[in-house]
Amino acid sequence: MDNGKFCMKIVIIIPTYNEKSNIEKMIPVLEKDIFPKISNHSMAILIVDDNSPDGTAEVVKEYMKKWLNIHLLSGKKNGLGAAYVRGMKFAMDKMDADAVMEFDSDFQHNPQDIPRLVKAMDEGADYVIGSRYINGGSIPKEWGADRKFLSVFGNLFTRVVWLNFKIHDMTSGFKLTKTIFLKKVDLDHMLAQNFAYKMQIIHDIIKLKAKIQEVPIVFYERTQGKSKISLQDQFKSFYVVTRLGIYDRKRFLQFLIVGGTGFVLQFITVYVVIIFGIKQFIAAMIGGEIAILWNFFANNMWTFKDTRSLQQQGRIWQRLVKFNFVSLASIGVQGLVVYLAVKFLGEKLKFFGLIVHTSIAILFPTIILLVIPMNYVIYNRFIWKTHQLKK
Ligand code: GDD
Ligand code: MN
Repeated sequence: MDNGKFCMKIVIIIPTYNEKSNIEKMIPVLEKDIFPKISNHSMAILIVDDNSPDGTAEVVKEYMKKWLNIHLLSGKKNGLGAAYVRGMKFAMDKMDADAVMEFDSDFQHNPQDIPRLVKAMDEGADYVIGSRYINGGSIPKEWGADRKFLSVFGNLFTRVVWLNFKIHDMTSGFKLTKTIFLKKVDLDHMLAQNFAYKMQIIHDIIKLKAKIQEVPIVFYERTQGKSKISLQDQFKSFYVVTRLGIYDRKRFLQFLIVGGTGFVLQFITVYVVIIFGIKQFIAAMIGGEIAILWNFFANNMWTFKDTRSLQQQGRIWQRLVKFNFVSLASIGVQGLVVYLAVKFLGEKLKFFGLIVHTSIAILFPTIILLVIPMNYVIYNRFIWKTHQLKK
């Protein structure tokens, strides 16, 4: 199958814990059956065993006498993620791997699929996912409804929280990764040591803009030994996904919190000012300006704190005046939308059987779909100029 493509050193990393009977069968299959099908690359196996009490390592050592491309890394049991991090570092630093594969020892991943993942990389992918959730892929039909639900829901949750609908299988444990990308992942600071490790790696790979390709795989039911995944592991994955999602959208979430509290502050101010016997329209204007000031200073000190170096170039009061004009423009937009809505739809609207003022019905979607995105863009581009920040 030598098609003249660049020859890579590919290391198949197989973590094992009490997998003696599986690894006994797996290594000969890889060596005799699979590797000859990938003759254009240099293939190696790295078993990361956590001193399995069943003697998995002894089996591996026997095979190492027969095949010289097998390596064994033994260590303390700290979870699947810790084992993979250890294995990945070893493959990159000591074995000069160009690509590493994450692969299970228990035949739930079919070794016959390996050449197809390698082929996808030959054809240009940087990160290949053995995917159960695209055409031709599947999860075991023997799985109970609970495990099926967790897998499907976990994937959907990740896609929604990360706003990424291009990737269908986020939680697969069967991957091929170019090490030029993996080297840029901070393996020393992982949020989880267990199964959730893979959520952080895929997240970082996406951010690095690697070319990602999914290849369908059938995920089989385990026939020998026991699964090591626990309910706690699965929940840790939700935590890692959420944590990374929040981190990516940190600025936007801060902006929303500031805007929301500003809104509450505005109402309280108007109420208090009216109690002091001041005319309602003046109270409304004071409330509006209080909200503007709150938004300006809270965003300045918190949401856009990292733009401080840029802020020193301009005077703060100039920015505050600019901010007031922007806020006026946003009030103008809301007025215009309500004016047009009343003109074309009438003073009142029927809404799910309820008669409401058109302004009230229209303001809610306007604020969410127009005002919030518009303000966010204006703050970033014109007030705090985040695009000038040095990366
Ligand atoms: N060294 C080491 N240390 N190996 C481990 C550990 C550990 O703490 N925990 C599990 N392993 C090894 C197992 O021996 C096996 O070879 C492989 O990792 C997968 O473990 P399983 O226990 O069989 O995992 P699973 O089948 O429940 O989960 C698989 O499918 C998930 C998707 O449904 C894995 O591929 C997951 O990564 C994947 O998310
Ligand atoms: Mn398994």
